[in-house]
Amino acid sequence: MHLNEAKKVFLDLYGGNESDLRFFAAPGRVNLIGEHTDYNGGYVFPAALTMRTLIIARKNGKNTINLAATDLPDRVSLDIDNLANYKNIGWGSYQAAIAYTMKKEGFEITGCDMLFDDTTPHGAGLSSSAAIEVAAAFALATFSNEKKGIKNDVDLIQIAKIGQKAENEYIGVNCGIMDQFSSAMGRKNHAIFLDCKDLSYKLVPLAIDGYKIVISNTNKKRSLQTSKYNERRSECDIALRSLQKSLPEKNYLGEITIDEFEKYKHSIEDAAAKKRARHVVYECDRVLKSIQALLNNDIKTFGHLMVESHNSLRDLYEVTGIELDTLVEEALKIDGVIGTRMTGAGFGGCTVSIVREEAIDKFINDVGKNYESKIGYPASFYISEIGDGAREVK
Ligand code: GLA
Repeated sequence: MHLNEAKKVFLDLYGGNESDLRFFAAPGRVNLIGEHTDYNGGYVFPAALTMRTLIIARKNGKNTINLAATDLPDRVSLDIDNLANYKNIGWGSYQAAIAYTMKKEGFEITGCDMLFDDTTPHGAGLSSSAAIEVAAAFALATFSNEKKGIKNDVDLIQIAKIGQKAENEYIGVNCGIMDQFSSAMGRKNHAIFLDCKDLSYKLVPLAIDGYKIVISNTNKKRSLQTSKYNERRSECDIALRSLQKSLPEKNYLGEITIDEFEKYKHSIEDAAAKKRARHVVYECDRVLKSIQALLNNDIKTFGHLMVESHNSLRDLYEVTGIELDTLVEEALKIDGVIGTRMTGAGFGGCTVSIVREEAIDKFINDVGKNYESKIGYPASFYISEIGDGAREVK
């Protein structure tokens, strides 16, 4: 929604005038490569999108946080003294999770009225929920700092950690840090090379002249995602425990090199766990090679690595499915597609493709037509721009 329109919705709902409104934004993300590696202490390479959550907010002097959204009829009022009570309310539970987690960590949670406006599609694997979490955390942290008289900027890495903790402990999804980190720390026209074992990171310029990043949405409704996701995490833990018998100094699968894996893989008895670990170890190596390829301006190699990543997520990690595989297969038939793969958790959601600019119309037309005739309903396409991370918009 346009900002002026959203302001009007806010004032119609909560009254008052424009003068004391504040604006906070945090983006969704696309992961270019490094999938299902974050919770294994491995490497990821995501970028923040310009699709975002914008919050219009105003302190209300009460002990409640009032929530509304421009695209939903729901209205929620959170009692700051009872923040544990909103786990199963549907929309609003992410905001409650953030306020609850921040209060436990010593933030002064301030009563306020909030209106959420999202442009990141929901449930599409582009981290619309991380965008909501990080934007809400940024707003509440800003208000807390003001109440305490703290002049420092909001600590963005702390915001990312709060987002992950809220999701793990309050919402019950055992996600890693990638989505919240990208949403908090993204930078326009850069991707983030992040080492998830210690959160060290580098911003890498995404200068791919003549090409665009195209996101294709399967539009598949996801349901089993949470349980399958948590199941993959436990399979990785089983593999790690087996490998640690020979490699006791390793704390994460993401720290194990290909040579070490090949030498000790026989110790993983569980066949599924062995496949999952193989994916993680080789995927981390692909991230390193991808960064090198980008730095060498070798976009072709980067593209090959993306396709290898998809194949591994399909065959070893088993998180793709017919919808994502069809998008990738159809994309690879188009001349001008450099690389393509699923992005995010999988089981539906989106693919990310690097496409030569002149080929984009054909890409959207042909992939769209063939996807719909095979799957029975249409895909959606977005040409993505890489934007900034969380901020107060002045
Ligand atoms: C989801 C999770 C992330 C990450 C990806 C898979 O997006 O929220 O933490 O694990 O899946 O790479």
